[in-house]
Amino acid sequence: MSKIGIVGTGYVGLVTGVSFANLGFQITCLDVLEDKINQINAGIPPIYEKGLDSLLKIVVNKGLLRGTLSREDMFNNSDVIFICLPTPSSEDGKINLKYIREEVIQLGKLLQTTSEYKTIVVKSTVVPGTTDGIVKQLLEQESGKTAGIEFGLAMNPEFLMEGLALENFQHPDRIVIGAIDDKSFNSVNNLYQSFTCPIQKVTNSAAEMVKYAANSFLATKISFINEIANMCELLDINVSDVANGMGSDSRISEKFLRAGVGFGGSCFPKDVKALHYLSKELNKESKILKATLEVNQYQPLRIIEILEKEIEIKGSLIGLLGLAFKPDTDDMREAPSITIANKLMKKGAIIYGYDPIAKISAREALPDIIHCKSVEELLEKTDVVILITEWSEFKNLTSRDFNVRPKKLIVDGRRILNWKELETNGNKIKVIGQTPP
Ligand code: UGA
Repeated sequence: MSKIGIVGTGYVGLVTGVSFANLGFQITCLDVLEDKINQINAGIPPIYEKGLDSLLKIVVNKGLLRGTLSREDMFNNSDVIFICLPTPSSEDGKINLKYIREEVIQLGKLLQTTSEYKTIVVKSTVVPGTTDGIVKQLLEQESGKTAGIEFGLAMNPEFLMEGLALENFQHPDRIVIGAIDDKSFNSVNNLYQSFTCPIQKVTNSAAEMVKYAANSFLATKISFINEIANMCELLDINVSDVANGMGSDSRISEKFLRAGVGFGGSCFPKDVKALHYLSKELNKESKILKATLEVNQYQPLRIIEILEKEIEIKGSLIGLLGLAFKPDTDDMREAPSITIANKLMKKGAIIYGYDPIAKISAREALPDIIHCKSVEELLEKTDVVILITEWSEFKNLTSRDFNVRPKKLIVDGRRILNWKELETNGNKIKVIGQTPP
């Protein structure tokens, strides 16, 4: 059974490592942060991800997964090495390959020292051409060896959703493996022998493009339904009826047609920007991706427009229900709550916020708002409430909860509240994608 090395223990690296360990593989995880490695070795996930807590404990206790700060240690104990490092975007949207480049140089130096065949797999999201370009070039340059002959090179994108990452790993729709040659492909393919889904064999560049195209398409679906939602508001149409009608067509599917305050997170905004940037570099600017980003920039501002029509924002006590970029995660990266809170504070509002899970991350991302310990506290202290993240604990809120302090306005940015019940009890409620009552 192959031994697996994981470079980088963020969401992708840790979930991949724990999931392969759960299949019986021996995993060594490398990170530069000592605290993270100590936590992993103690069986404590350094990030919040549903189910990770118990599964990490199990695989660490079984001796199937351990963390290390030593690259040599990870390298010597692995046949297949997955690079799971971040690929942030620069100001202009261009992908920043700094971490990948630095790592690949070090892996190349180690490849020089061994006579064993090892396969390096890029799992990080990188623009098409990266693996066969800079990654291959640096590995060959530092090792003095040839990719596809003395070592393997592959690209294996992940399609994990935060909050569902373990489940997504275990039950994928498909597995995409790009490889420089058959031997490289086989060494990755062997790891997925127990999976029943289709395994697609492609080139490294095609695998890279699949990932970008998939994320960009899903993001475009969201921006599309958000534009439809904005029209529905003016035409007395419920956008959910439209999404259901459209989504029942199996060619479209109902998934990712939930209108709201826009998409956030560490992937969609970054990946759409990077693919858009690449299209410009190729002199083939994608008009669709440009529009997807523009619509998404505007969408959180719909909330401000709604509020401006209804209340005097200056001096208002406004509560934000949900701060994380989506439910079941504490991730605040590119969360619409940040744009909304900062805009409202600029206009003189006093902002309260509550999130069931995002606590430390929310304080870091939004240091100037007042963080409440519970929904009850937020509802007691505010006159206006905006629902931003669709956590399930908000779905069953009733007018009794809201009326502990009468509300001037409730805005449902994710369309999950029980509007009828809230309205019949005298609350003024506005909903994204729905004509105002
Ligand atoms: C996304 C993709 O779904 C994964 O397949 C991919 O692997 C991952 O990015 C990645 O590249 O690593 P994730 O960012 O975890 O996963 O979150 P999603 O559940 O896709 O949601 C992204 C954003 O879109 C959230 O802000 C969510 O609220 C929003 N969204 C999603 C909508 O506004 N409407 C929808 O119908 C669906």
